[in-house]
Amino acid sequence: TAMLAAGTAVQAAASPATFGTETVPQPDANAAGSDVTEPTASTGPLPAPQRGVLAEPPAHAVFIAVDLAPEVDRARLEKLLRILTNDANRLMAGYAPVGDQEPQMAEVPARLTITFGFGPKLVDLVNPDAKPDWLAPLPAFAIDRLEEQWSGGDLLVYVASDDPLTLAHAQRLMLKDLRAYTTIRWQQPGFRNARGSLKPGTTQRNLFGQIDGTVNPRPGDEDFDALVWIGSGGTSGTGGSAPQWLAGGTSFVLRRIEMNLETWDEVDEPGRDAAVGRRLDSGAPLTGSHEFEEPDFEALTPQGFTVINPVSHIARARSEDPAERIHRLTYNYDHPVMGVGGIGASVSNSGLLFGSLQANPLTQFVPIQQRLADADLLNEWTVPIGSAVFAIPPAASRGGFVGENLYA
Ligand code: HEM
Repeated sequence: TAMLAAGTAVQAAASPATFGTETVPQPDANAAGSDVTEPTASTGPLPAPQRGVLAEPPAHAVFIAVDLAPEVDRARLEKLLRILTNDANRLMAGYAPVGDQEPQMAEVPARLTITFGFGPKLVDLVNPDAKPDWLAPLPAFAIDRLEEQWSGGDLLVYVASDDPLTLAHAQRLMLKDLRAYTTIRWQQPGFRNARGSLKPGTTQRNLFGQIDGTVNPRPGDEDFDALVWIGSGGTSGTGGSAPQWLAGGTSFVLRRIEMNLETWDEVDEPGRDAAVGRRLDSGAPLTGSHEFEEPDFEALTPQGFTVINPVSHIARARSEDPAERIHRLTYNYDHPVMGVGGIGASVSNSGLLFGSLQANPLTQFVPIQQRLADADLLNEWTVPIGSAVFAIPPAASRGGFVGENLYA
């Protein structure tokens, strides 16, 4: 498998991920015996990541999962991946793909990104030996009420743009590429604040009105690379391992989490603050006055209770192990409910498309989700109803296709 120099990638990112000693915090030695702080023979520049993984999330997104048709074999899948890669690259650059019947609609990309992820069955079809151990449905959690219609999938296409019209056009072209080879499994649109409506650097709110995304390693942060990218030789800064074709890639978990706005309405402000461990108005931890202040989980009330409830969301979500962190990439959803009325009727179908990027879901996402499933005050109003895991390959080389290294 020839490693691609980062500079040759078509979807060149702002800066290619490296696993230099500076960017990687002391990882524990892991089962696979990898040690990313000591460059080995296989340690070299990584292929550039797919652009959408690094982008500041655009205002609108749609996550699409499809299942491969039974007649799609390895060769036909390669053909599909080439078509998708070419069309996505052209669209992201503001050019219409070949055969686009509304080519003018491609002219305003509005930070369009299109990112591809592979489910277990797709990898099995191409090279079963190259399937990472984590590419499988997550273990079941007691809080889960998963629905088939929002779970699993062979191929993920994540399309995002600041402009919903651009997004609709790009989505349509992707679906036209896909239709001869696949069936649509689910399609989940989501939104964040409109581009420009918040002062730069402001954290968005979710539909509960909470400031959501404060503590979140971001591209450019010192530890982001080690937490998110799979390294050369398939190593990861957080322990665990992945096959070489994923070097420069990552993994994506998508959880669809219903948020019950009706019962949330019944909670007063102190109750709401206590559930998260932060103030609803400012996002500050209950032990501080500014959003980005460190919470003090030891601080006590005059009565001797901790100020931040040990079962609050932030107390439970945080680990003492710095390798046990994720990059959250979330969108809100809010769908119509029809034919509903009357005092007390539920007039919302709302929640979070909770996306999580990490080098290894089993060592990063799962322990956090397990703690939250065991105890988290927020569970009173939230229910996971969908779940899927995908491998996100690096960007294609020039003239290549996303996933090419899986074929190598
Ligand atoms: C923090 C909301 C689900 C992991 C937070 C915060 C809010 C929030 C308001 C505090 C501000 C911030 O740092 O962003 C929610 C809601 C959820 C949800 C409404 C479901 C609908 C999840 C899930 C996970 C998760 C499923 C992971 C499995 C985290 C983490 C933090 C956090 C790691 C930062 C904790 C820290 O301070 O170290 N969430 N969350 N959340 N949440 Fe969630």
